[in-house]
Amino acid sequence: TPDSHVSRDPRLIRLTGVHPFNCEATLTELFKEGFLTSPELFYVRNHGPVPEVQDEDIPDWEFSVEGLVANPLKIKLKELLSNYENVTCPITLVCAGNRRKEQNVVRKSKGFSWGPAGVSTALFTGVVMRDVLERAKPLRKARYVCMEGADKLPNGYYGTSVKLNWAMDPNRGIMLAHGMNGEPLTPDHGKPLRAVIPGQIGGRSVKWLKKLIITAEPSDNWYHIYDNRVLPTMVDPDEAAKNKDWWMDERYAIYDLSPNSVTAVPAHDERLELATAPEYYNVQGYAYSGGGRRITRVQISLDQGKSWRFGNIEYAEDKYRDFEDKQLFGGRLDMDWRETCFCWCFWKLNILVEELKEAKDIIVRAMDESMNVQPRDMYWSVLGMMNNPWFRVAIHNER
Ligand code: MTE
Repeated sequence: TPDSHVSRDPRLIRLTGVHPFNCEATLTELFKEGFLTSPELFYVRNHGPVPEVQDEDIPDWEFSVEGLVANPLKIKLKELLSNYENVTCPITLVCAGNRRKEQNVVRKSKGFSWGPAGVSTALFTGVVMRDVLERAKPLRKARYVCMEGADKLPNGYYGTSVKLNWAMDPNRGIMLAHGMNGEPLTPDHGKPLRAVIPGQIGGRSVKWLKKLIITAEPSDNWYHIYDNRVLPTMVDPDEAAKNKDWWMDERYAIYDLSPNSVTAVPAHDERLELATAPEYYNVQGYAYSGGGRRITRVQISLDQGKSWRFGNIEYAEDKYRDFEDKQLFGGRLDMDWRETCFCWCFWKLNILVEELKEAKDIIVRAMDESMNVQPRDMYWSVLGMMNNPWFRVAIHNER
């Protein structure tokens, strides 16, 4: 296959055929990893072949900054390391297709079936994109940063865009990353250079980055237009194929993630041996939201949503905010001046085993600081993206 130069962990579950490579860990394995996901279990979403880059060629990997700028640039990776300040920041990436399987069960969408493990977290090291753009000097009419990767696909190179003012806002943490958990990026995750756009769907974080093109309009790349959108729910696959206009509406493009939460312990359909269990069972899961917004409530129901109780939330990323050694993996730990939340959090709740014995399922829903909530009902759309209704695990009691 085209990816024969890439080695991969057998614990990853393939979601599509042999090629391209798309995979997630089981939720149980992912959750066991804790706050930081190792590169081997980090979910992978590739639209095509992984570009092959030899280690000795990494320093000379070059990307350009062009378009509406006064000072177009060509920058080599070694120059990013020596001529710019490098920072390190924990960031969670989430595929917009995370939890799509639940949509496909209700009605087949045009996407493959992600479970709830299309989400992972790493300490990314690189340069704040703003520092690069400031040297390129965007012109007055510039409004978007288009990004293009080196992976050649049936419809051209993978590319997309974000707003220029987001890239210029340090609180959005948009960066050009070359490292992940203290190691160089692995081939599947963009070796040697990728954009990382915190708080937004993974599809905006372009891997194998070759170009930043500053424009007055959003990207016209095929993958920007025909991917990563939530079309109105009545647009079915036939209608979406017939009528191009649905795709041309930039209002349907997804940027910020929405609040989401899942239960990892117990696993869906797990048989619980409650007869011999201690007094309490510790239910656990993850939650995240978008746009730097913090998850402020996680609620759990054992009676199909009639009543709710609070889970205890642990914000593991906060420990990096008062980290003693402000240098980490060759980058300044870039958290102290951020009010924003770029990572998933974990929640826990002790439930009396006597209560759990009576329950058929466990439902969880989260809310963020803007009071955005997970809906009770699913919003089906043709690409099956941004699926975030209440998450339900069925449980079975061994009596
Ligand atoms: N960048 C390039 N060049 N090609 C791609 O196929 N996939 C995007 C994004 N960047 C993609 C890309 C999508 S849809 C996602 S969700 C993330 O990369 C996945 O990043 P990961 O594989 O490192 O988890």
